Amino acid sequence: MSPAPDIPPAADDPRLVTNLAGLRLRNPVLTASGTGGYGPEYAGVLDYRRLGGFTTKSVTREERPGNEPQRLVEVRAGLLNAIGLANVGLTRFLREKLPFIQTMPTAVLVNVAGHRLEDYVEIAAALDEHPAVAAIELNVSCPNVADGLMFGTDPALLQKVVAATRRVLKRAKLVVKLSPNVTDIAVFARAALDGGAQILSLINTYVGLSIDAQTWKPRLANVTGGLSGPAIKPLALYNVHRVYQTVARAAGVPIIGMGGIQSTPDAIEFFLAGASAVAVGTALFIDPTIPLKIAAGLADYLTAHNLPHISALTGQLQLR
Ligand SMILES: Cc1cc2nc3c(=O)[nH]c(=O)nc-3n(C[C@H](O)[C@H](O)[C@H](O)COP(=O)(O)O)c2cc1C
Repeated sequence: MSPAPDIPPAADDPRLVTNLAGLRLRNPVLTASGTGGYGPEYAGVLDYRRLGGFTTKSVTREERPGNEPQRLVEVRAGLLNAIGLANVGLTRFLREKLPFIQTMPTAVLVNVAGHRLEDYVEIAAALDEHPAVAAIELNVSCPNVADGLMFGTDPALLQKVVAATRRVLKRAKLVVKLSPNVTDIAVFARAALDGGAQILSLINTYVGLSIDAQTWKPRLANVTGGLSGPAIKPLALYNVHRVYQTVARAAGVPIIGMGGIQSTPDAIEFFLAGASAVAVGTALFIDPTIPLKIAAGLADYLTAHNLPHISALTGQLQLR
């Protein structure tokens, strides 16, 4: 794995070192779940020694083939996906994917999804035994499976699943990933914190639809999919702002912000809205090194603005 020559080394800049409730990252730029596989997929192109953190594809208890194709469609300023949580399942994950993860020189967050509360608890307990898993990110917000949004759109259920998962974690940090497909995301942020979430990540994708005007059919076999990419950036920023202002700031709980981030200025907007770290998803499909370029750009920004540390930006949106 050799670093791309055009990216200045910013990885070990102390001004970028980020501590999210004890989860230490060398810089605050991660990959978003489902857009980088389990690690080997980008090993030749994305230098993990310079990445803040890597988030795996969702892992479920049983192996899942996912939805029928067509599962991805490009739309204006975004991507509509209905992958349907295709993944190898817990047993194969531990056997086939964990060995590579154990060699990754970056913090690894394993994203977990389930049908029942017991699924989340069982997977989290199994992952907690492996020190290479720095954090568990609960995906309670997938819009592309029949019951994917169940936990993420019922605050009482969300609090219950978070609390049950937290109880079995002895070591790994607990991140809860929130859905924007609700009336007020702050209610769900509150429920996640009441359940014991240590970090919040937001947002997952928005439910969307694309129709072929010639055939009169939906472009995705699943009919609907999750919208990601630049199209959702203002919506994602609003959600981060809302959660920070109403819940996270007072609780002192860090936010990993995501949704349409493609550049350093995009990332800075998320920090100002209240994020302590950011994740890049869809943009990896254009250029897998974007997280490293953003990290380097953040270092330059701190220098240009004479700021001592990236955390000096968090929540600094000037409202008056
Ligand atoms: C192809 C694709 C697959 C995804 N799979 C997952 C997943 O397995 N689990 C999850 O929590 N989020 C998943 N997401 C959502 C992303 O992690 C992220 O929350 C969302 O795409 C917004 O960020 P972006 O606009 O930078 O992509 C997926 C997104 C895409 C585009």
